[in-house]
Amino acid sequence: MTPRRQNSTTGRPPGFVYRESKHGMLRRSGQFVLHAEGVALTKLAAQYGTPVYVYSRETIDSRYDVFDGAFRAVPHTICYSVKANSNLSILRLLARKGCGFDVVSGGELERVLTADRKAARKVVFSGVGKTREELTAGLKAGILLFNVESESELSALAECAGRLRRTAPVAVRVNPDVAAETHPYISTGLHQHKFGVPIREARALYAKASGTRHLKVGGVSVHIGSQITDVAPFGEAMTRIAELVRALRDDGHGIAYVDAGGGLGIAYDQPEPADFCSYVESYARALTTPLQGLDVHLLLEPGRAIVGPAGVLLTSVVYRKTNAGKRFLVVDAAMNDMIRPALYGAYHEIVPVTMDAGKSEVVDIVGPVCETGDFFARDRELPIVAEGDLLAILDVGAYGMVLSSNYNTRPRPAEVLVAGKSAKVIRRREKVADLLRAEV
Ligand code: LLP
Repeated sequence: MTPRRQNSTTGRPPGFVYRESKHGMLRRSGQFVLHAEGVALTKLAAQYGTPVYVYSRETIDSRYDVFDGAFRAVPHTICYSVKANSNLSILRLLARKGCGFDVVSGGELERVLTADRKAARKVVFSGVGKTREELTAGLKAGILLFNVESESELSALAECAGRLRRTAPVAVRVNPDVAAETHPYISTGLHQHKFGVPIREARALYAKASGTRHLKVGGVSVHIGSQITDVAPFGEAMTRIAELVRALRDDGHGIAYVDAGGGLGIAYDQPEPADFCSYVESYARALTTPLQGLDVHLLLEPGRAIVGPAGVLLTSVVYRKTNAGKRFLVVDAAMNDMIRPALYGAYHEIVPVTMDAGKSEVVDIVGPVCETGDFFARDRELPIVAEGDLLAILDVGAYGMVLSSNYNTRPRPAEVLVAGKSAKVIRRREKVADLLRAEV
């Protein structure tokens, strides 16, 4: 097995690379240690313990830049989807780059404002069930756009804005009825899904919004799902949105913004993913071609595409065991720390942190939680590792820590951000006492 991402010839940012170790006990030749940028993951595990999330700042930086660059030909704002990874330090580093944010709760809004108070004017607020408290918080903060998903929400927003004597900037999130190839739990663009307003009914809702005091129509929004790697459905959705924008303008509405949502997928299962630059360029073409001549400001809500490959979860092998000939590696991370395999059957590449040219074996990699669903990989070929060795679960920068829980009263892992040769704890490991504190 060749160490993955040993070079950066693919154009994908080289956040995690194997480097030949020249220090101490590992002086033996042919031994490679996985690094986050300039820091050996063995060192981080020794310092901070496992399980621990480790992020590469350079990867986030450069993926943001690639994304931003791909849309350079049109007026646009990237509103990073906070749900993918909401750590304050990550929000702050994106805010410093001029990034806006897509939030789906009052909590996420508060995170953004804590990271950077001035970011409010670049915030879009999505979600089918925003409460009046959340709408009010968005109004007070002065956000850019409310993506409204129903007639009832529109009325609630008008009511909250009226109470504050403010005007709420509104887009209707329309459901374009476009099918996208992805896991059924994260596909959102079909009429049977709970999201958005059917595109046929959108004009009537815009008429209502325009006729309501304290609301100001500002744009149209759409989001068809997540982890979509074929750009065609994005183009299809945008063609329908462009038609709608024309119709709405004919109706006399001022449509300044088109919010294209997020959803661009990453390559979880390829040893060397395709060139990120040209991939995002093709995504940008799919979105912008149908909008040509419309003179709109494009909003984009990528989450996974920016942070997904920027994170790994480091875990130690606690035990090796064999049940009726089947081999298991029991590790110290579990489904509560990273639930994607258990919840979606998602594939994540898993690699030994220290790689030598030894033999491989077929194993299940499982956590200690009392559920058969608590696995990271099944029947996976992996170089043979021993108890105490470290594994890295790759591509967990998005929907990793944010989906973690305290199931089995397991304190959540620490998060560490690496930049070059330096590493910083951006969220300390929880203690059991933290978990007990809120209880009577
Ligand atoms: N905008 C809206 C309105 C969304 O609902 C989402 C994701 C995004 C943007 C960002 O999508 P992204 O660019 O990250 O694909 N937990 C699942 C993913 C759920 C996505 C939900 N909405 C997973 O682990 O795959």
